[in-house]
Formats: sequence, C-alpha cells, structure tokens
Amino acid sequence: MLVSAKEMLDKAVAGHYAVGQFNINNLEWTKAVLETAQELKSPVILGVSEGANKYMTGYDTVVAMVRAMDASLGITVPVALHLDHGKYEGAKACIEAGYTSVMFDGSSYPIDENLEKTKEIVSLAHEHGISVEAEVGTIGGEEDGVVGMGEIADPEECKRLADLGIDFLAAGIGNIHGVYPENWKGLDFDTLKEIKATIGDLPLVLHGGTGIPKDMIQTAISLGVAKINVNTECQIAFAEATRGYIEAGKDQKGKGFDPRKLLAPGAEAIKQTVKEKMEMFGSVGKAE
Ligand code: 13P
Repeated sequence: MLVSAKEMLDKAVAGHYAVGQFNINNLEWTKAVLETAQELKSPVILGVSEGANKYMTGYDTVVAMVRAMDASLGITVPVALHLDHGKYEGAKACIEAGYTSVMFDGSSYPIDENLEKTKEIVSLAHEHGISVEAEVGTIGGEEDGVVGMGEIADPEECKRLADLGIDFLAAGIGNIHGVYPENWKGLDFDTLKEIKATIGDLPLVLHGGTGIPKDMIQTAISLGVAKINVNTECQIAFAEATRGYIEAGKDQKGKGFDPRKLLAPGAEAIKQTVKEKMEMFGSVGKAE
C-alpha cells in the first residue's frame, strides 16, 4: 500500500522505533525489500537516488514499476516511495510523477537559500499529500555523486527548517555514506540531543545506516531518530552472494546462467540484510 511517509514516521517517534529506508536499484531490489517488509509486517521506505532513477530510465518508470509491483504482490504494509537526496528540479518532477515522499537535499546551498527552496517544495508536495525530508549539515562521504564533508548540523538551523512544516529532518551528526573508516569518531549524540530539544517530536533521519553498531542505533532512536537509511550494506550483500555463486561455478552447470537463477542468491542476501535491519530498528510487527 503506497502512502506518504509522514504517518509511519510520526508513529515511529511515538513508539520509539525506526523505519528503514532501503535504496533500490532495479526490479530484484524492489521485490526483495517489498517481500521482506510484508513477511515481517513492517512499514518500509523505498529510497531512490537521482542516480538510481536515471539508471532505471526515469521517475515515471520507477513509479510505474513500484506501484504495479506493490499491487501485484498484494502488499498491505505501508510503503513510501521516496526520492533520496533529491535536487530541486528532481523533487518537483517526483511530486508530479507520483512519488509519495521526497527528500529535497538543499544542504549544499547557503542556509537561507536552502530554507527558501525547501519551503517551495513543502508547499508543492503538501498540495499532493506527499511528505518532505529536508537536510541540514551534511552526510560525509559520497553517494551517487552526492558528496558531503560531514559538517555537523547547527541546532538553530534545524529549528528554522522544522518551522517550515517539513515532515522529517536529516541532520548531519557525524554519519557517513558508505563503509565507515576504521578511525570513525562515531555519532555526535550531544548535538543530536540539542537538535531534539529544539525540534521536539519532528522525526529525525539517520543517513549512512550501513555498519552503524546496534548500541549507537538504539541510542539514536531514543533521541528521536525514526528513519534510518541503508544502501551500501545491501549492495555489498548482493555482490558477495553473486560472487559466491559464480566462483562456485554454478552459472556453468545446467541452466545456471539463467538470469533468474544467477540473481537469486543476491536477492536472497538483500532480503536477509533488510530483515536484520528491520529487527535492529524495531519496526517488525508495527504494521499489523
Ligand atoms: P549507506 O549507503 O551508508 O547505507 O547510506 C545510505 C543513505 O544514507 C541513503 O541516503
């Protein structure tokens, strides 16, 4: 059931758990995430970056595939189709194309311009019942061409964005896209506490969910994080399982080269990763 992400995240804040955003790249990814959410009775957010949208030939293709698959698999748990790190034009296009949620990432603009553009996106999206994520501070590392220096968010700027009527907020607190380096300092919980104190019950988003240890995840949730984004970990799981299949020579036995067989272990590995994360985030059973 495709819905905006607002209600599921407000519920997550109240219930002290987080909903996973899992980034999708193709049909296998989408099917694996939807089936796992349904099996575990968990709400879920399908994240699609600008790069993944382009790869799948555009916003309209993604919307058509996800809507049709949600219906044909008989998915009853709440599913949000969410633009991840959207550009200004991309966010507007997704609102028109039928996404149910958009992130406008204005973190590379000076704060006043970020606020101005976010305000426009909020007004357009809310006319269509679509939820909006905004960003302040930056997420370190690189994802699909979005590069950030990992600036820690300023709680006052968080408050200014919250006051625009956004539905959830991504605030940089030392989190990084991709695999965390050995010398990573961890999440900045002091800043997270200050942000929470300024914005109240507005759901917070933790990007860079790959590899964050369980205790940090639990502390972050206790401080208002209600959405956690995971991308790289599913990619690594898919690649490892596919490599295992090929290195075992299975693609050369019988009809092992059939793409439906070749891609099956990778899809299964994504399902396993999504399951582990949903259990860790506490969202299992929350859509019953
Ligand atoms: P990871 O790739 O580090 O899991 O981050 C995902 C993310 O934050 C998507 O926006």
